[in-house]
Amino acid sequence: MTTLITNARLINEGRIVECDIRIQGDRIARIAPEISAQGADRVVDARGFLVAPGVIDDQVHFREPGLTHKGDLQSETRAAAAGGITSVMEMPNTNPATLTSELLEAKYARAAQVAAVNYAFYLGASNDNLADIQRLDPKTAAGVKVFMGASTGNMLVDNEQTLAGIFRDAPCLVATHCEYQPTMDANLAAALAKYGDEIPVWEHPLIRSREACKQSTEMAIGLAKRFGTRLHVLHITTAEELQLFAPGPSENKQITAETCVHFLHFDDRDYARLGNWIKCNPAVKTKDDRSALIAAIHDGRIDVLATDHAPHTLEEKSRPYKQAPGGLPLVQYALPCLLQRVSEGLLSYPMAIEKFCHAPARMFDVHERGFVREGYFADLVLIDPNNTKTVNRVDVLSKCGWSPFEGEVLKHRIAHTFVNGHHVWNGSHVTPGVHGQRLRFAR
Ligand code: DOR
Repeated sequence: MTTLITNARLINEGRIVECDIRIQGDRIARIAPEISAQGADRVVDARGFLVAPGVIDDQVHFREPGLTHKGDLQSETRAAAAGGITSVMEMPNTNPATLTSELLEAKYARAAQVAAVNYAFYLGASNDNLADIQRLDPKTAAGVKVFMGASTGNMLVDNEQTLAGIFRDAPCLVATHCEYQPTMDANLAAALAKYGDEIPVWEHPLIRSREACKQSTEMAIGLAKRFGTRLHVLHITTAEELQLFAPGPSENKQITAETCVHFLHFDDRDYARLGNWIKCNPAVKTKDDRSALIAAIHDGRIDVLATDHAPHTLEEKSRPYKQAPGGLPLVQYALPCLLQRVSEGLLSYPMAIEKFCHAPARMFDVHERGFVREGYFADLVLIDPNNTKTVNRVDVLSKCGWSPFEGEVLKHRIAHTFVNGHHVWNGSHVTPGVHGQRLRFAR
């Protein structure tokens, strides 16, 4: 199958250029100012649209196995495709948790049957699976995920010796969730003493506090420096933590940082409007933190953007604060959410694409994806920058069936998505079928 995309305004590798793009099979065959449509089976006119490499999301929770009432590999990869996300790296806090290579391979096998986009999985860490981490073949996992603060699933690693062992022996990147548990436990006890069972949700960033984030991030960085670990700290939310990271390009950094699109969109004033919907771990912080995160994207302290897509049902989210789980569904509207910052003049298109598409490809050594280059896989997104349609629950593809953006008009809309040359999203429908491939890591 040959597809010609004409009149593209391509955002790629720091520039915006007008061009045509020819896709042959699963690859980008040619990029040129003008390409003849002769021999093309299909022509997609991209006039008025922006074209970019598909997003590589290095942090999603797709819930399979075991939590499939919230989402599964099929439903959530379809939502990702509708959001222009063409590759995902999925987290291990499923049930059972992904704590062995066998469980990791079982996820790959399931994804091979159902995934609409490309996929890789993290091996999880626990207080007692150091031997599995030591034995891991680094080509088979996105990385090792360590919960240094408890969140969904019981995966807290708080044994100091185990933590040291993981940082010493992990054969690949170590990705950490950093919130210091003893501080959060003390804050929660104080909130319970004050409010009883009626803790208001705006206490969330005071319970899962900025101090807890900083203490834990400091600890992870200290361990990484001690053992020379390749450390990636996930979902940074506070200005103080940003000071712990080095500015500049991500190439060759031993320690990198990620933030997520919702931390650039919401701040603590939104708890009054959205309540538990934006309860997530770490918590959404202040508008000053939001500004600091934007500044850190520019100066390179933030290397990568991701979603931390973490679906929970509306019923679960409508429980009282303490019982409501943390996390929100994001993949379908994450790219429009990020590009809203471009509409506001806070980011440029090339910077958004750098952090959401190129940087994860580079950082995880993803083989032949993340850039629009001849010979690379044809993972592409076409974006309409003049959307006027409101985000509406009926359009949500995530199994949980709601979106934190409901009622908002995001100025960008995902018009088309290609995964491995397959036209998987046409602006209103996901093409049925399995189009994703296992990500290869050129390590
Ligand atoms: O808010 C969150 N939700 N943070 C996490 O670390 C886990 C995630 C989930 O799996 O629900």
